[in-house]
Amino acid sequence: MPATTSTAPGKIILFGEHAVVYGRPAIAAPVKEVRARAVVKANPRGPAGEIRIQAPDLGVEAELGQLLAGDPLARAVRGTLAALRLSSPPAMNLRVTSTIPIAAGLGSGAAVSVAVIRALSAFLGRPLRDEQVSSLAYEIEKIHHGSPSGIDNTTITFEKPIFFVKSKPVQIMQVSLPFSIVIADTGIASSTAASVGQVRRAWGAHKDHYEALFDSAGAVAEAARQCIEHGLVESLGPLMDANHGILSKMGVSSPELDHLVKAARAAGAWGAKLSGSGQGGNMIALVSTKTGPQVAEALLEAGAVRAILTQVANPR
Ligand code: PMV
Repeated sequence: MPATTSTAPGKIILFGEHAVVYGRPAIAAPVKEVRARAVVKANPRGPAGEIRIQAPDLGVEAELGQLLAGDPLARAVRGTLAALRLSSPPAMNLRVTSTIPIAAGLGSGAAVSVAVIRALSAFLGRPLRDEQVSSLAYEIEKIHHGSPSGIDNTTITFEKPIFFVKSKPVQIMQVSLPFSIVIADTGIASSTAASVGQVRRAWGAHKDHYEALFDSAGAVAEAARQCIEHGLVESLGPLMDANHGILSKMGVSSPELDHLVKAARAAGAWGAKLSGSGQGGNMIALVSTKTGPQVAEALLEAGAVRAILTQVANPR
């Protein structure tokens, strides 16, 4: 059997994080500059059923049976075998690597799952359809926090800009005019579970207030969809600023994120916001081709540990 390789991109949430967990719409896009990669090879000397897993970026080097049942890599492998109804697979080696920063809101967990599910199912001669890949990856997302919206696994599986509503069919977006985003990392680990849990407790204690915040975020995402579909790129800037304000009111920003958001605006970005679960991780800034390099530079000077320039566009 020939070796099989699959890769999957990172992702950013452009609008609507957190509110999306409560049924409001959100917009996300793949980040192709960073990727997770899974390679599956036959191990002709191994006994049937033995699957050796090597994932240096995740600190994993083990046989499948040695990994805890809740381990995300073990879940991806077992979930794929179960979907294929294979109880005794041939001996294989799985190697997983990734350039997607971990715990930074860029979807590294979902990207690893998608790459593993695709590489393994293709190696076994029965590549799974996108819908199956995404729904298997969604099951693994539940390890990270109990009530994921599904936006990460969907954006990463389809590798296209999406307008997303929880439990509804995926809507691929038409990007009338491509636009540029600088992604900058605070360098502070962000726990999706902690942040989503904090919002859930606050929502439980102040339901009307949080429902109103979620409604506002949903309205911003709807307006942003119109701008993206009609090529009104600059108008997305104030919408990003508004979304950041709403996320701050939800309590998921941080002094470091606020500092980078201000630095981006001062350096000429049209708008900026945190992206993902917040309290650390990444922020994004909307830039032109002219302001992109200077905004990236200003963000690094303001303390970002990394800046990535990416484009949101229709897939070719
Ligand atoms: O995984 P992150 O940090 O990009 O957060 C995902 C976005 C949330 O809306 C906070 C959670 C979710 O499941 O949609």
